[in-house]
Amino acid sequence: MAEPILEVRDLVKHYPLTQGVLFKKQVGAVKAVDGVSFTLEKGETLGIVGESGCGKSTLAKVLMNLERATAGQVLYKGEDISRLSGAALKAVRRNIQMVFQDPYTSLNPRMTVGDIIGEPFEIHPEVAPKGDRRKAVQDLLDVVGLNPEYINRYPHQFSGGQRQRIGIARGLALKPEVIICDEPVSALDVSVQAQVINLLEQLQTEFELSYMFIAHDLSIVRHISDRVGVMYLGRIVEIGTDTEIYDHATHPYTQALLSAVPVPDPTGREGRERIILSGDIPSPANPPSGCRFRTRCWKAEERCATESPLLAAPKLLTGGAKHDSACHFAAEREVAGAAL
Ligand SMILES: Nc1ncnc2c1ncn2[C@@H]1O[C@H](COP(=O)(O)OP(=O)(O)O)[C@@H](O)[C@H]1O
Ligand SMILES: [Mg+2]
Repeated sequence: MAEPILEVRDLVKHYPLTQGVLFKKQVGAVKAVDGVSFTLEKGETLGIVGESGCGKSTLAKVLMNLERATAGQVLYKGEDISRLSGAALKAVRRNIQMVFQDPYTSLNPRMTVGDIIGEPFEIHPEVAPKGDRRKAVQDLLDVVGLNPEYINRYPHQFSGGQRQRIGIARGLALKPEVIICDEPVSALDVSVQAQVINLLEQLQTEFELSYMFIAHDLSIVRHISDRVGVMYLGRIVEIGTDTEIYDHATHPYTQALLSAVPVPDPTGREGRERIILSGDIPSPANPPSGCRFRTRCWKAEERCATESPLLAAPKLLTGGAKHDSACHFAAEREVAGAAL
């Protein structure tokens, strides 16, 4: 198989917790991302899902090098980019761009749409020399389905969906290979979400883009993703193709998330019970020992408090599981065929 476009190895991001005003003393750490590994293949979409606070945005920021990794590696085409700075970092950044969650706050209200979309050209003038910029921005507006004549308007003159199109146009300006979309439709009306997702899919085909698509909601991710990774408290607990995750989930947390997704065709998934998780998500500053999900898991046994389950494909006699799950009981449940 060809080399992945991105490979993340044991990535860790801890934010120091400090006490005191004058003499700050570190008293602990928020383990926002705590040992995450995965690959992103060229042209694919990897969905990342998980509840608010599980570390999705931190993961995105570390991948983009907007935040420094505490440990681990981010390989772009085989080269570790997590420690780069200066010109080398600038060169890599061109290829990995981000679309942010909130199109209301991520666009500078004092800048025209043309200046917002063209801003990346200030840092990378080689992509569009000064004389060509207006035309380049107008082309980008056209590509995202906005009227090129809107170039002198301001963000407040656009709807939420249109603003997200502007954010996407800015993300495309430098002709990147990878786009990290951090909850790109979460702030939009449901009726507009599908349009923006369709646009992202069209652009992916047109420009051969690889996407990491972050969401807190499994139903949004299903449509766009080739593979899906489920995060809980700074770790990926299950990852696999969309069919594997949606139809053969083996991690109790994934099963709980799926049980909360409304089923459009009730005959297709008869008998799927709603699993209500007890308790709150523990603090990432003080995660449970062993399996992090055990404090809310109905399957938890003593072993789960002492042994941290590895994210791996269960070894099965039946050969049923084709994806990785970080649960001590994943294999057993698959063998028993006890789908929830
Ligand atoms: N700059 C920061 N300093 C300290 N803690 C942070 C910082 N950014 C995020 N966190 C914490 O890290 C955890 C993960 O946050 P985040 O990555 O934003 O989660 P998500 O995007 O999944 O909602 C949360 O507990 C959050 O409070
Ligand atoms: Mg977030």
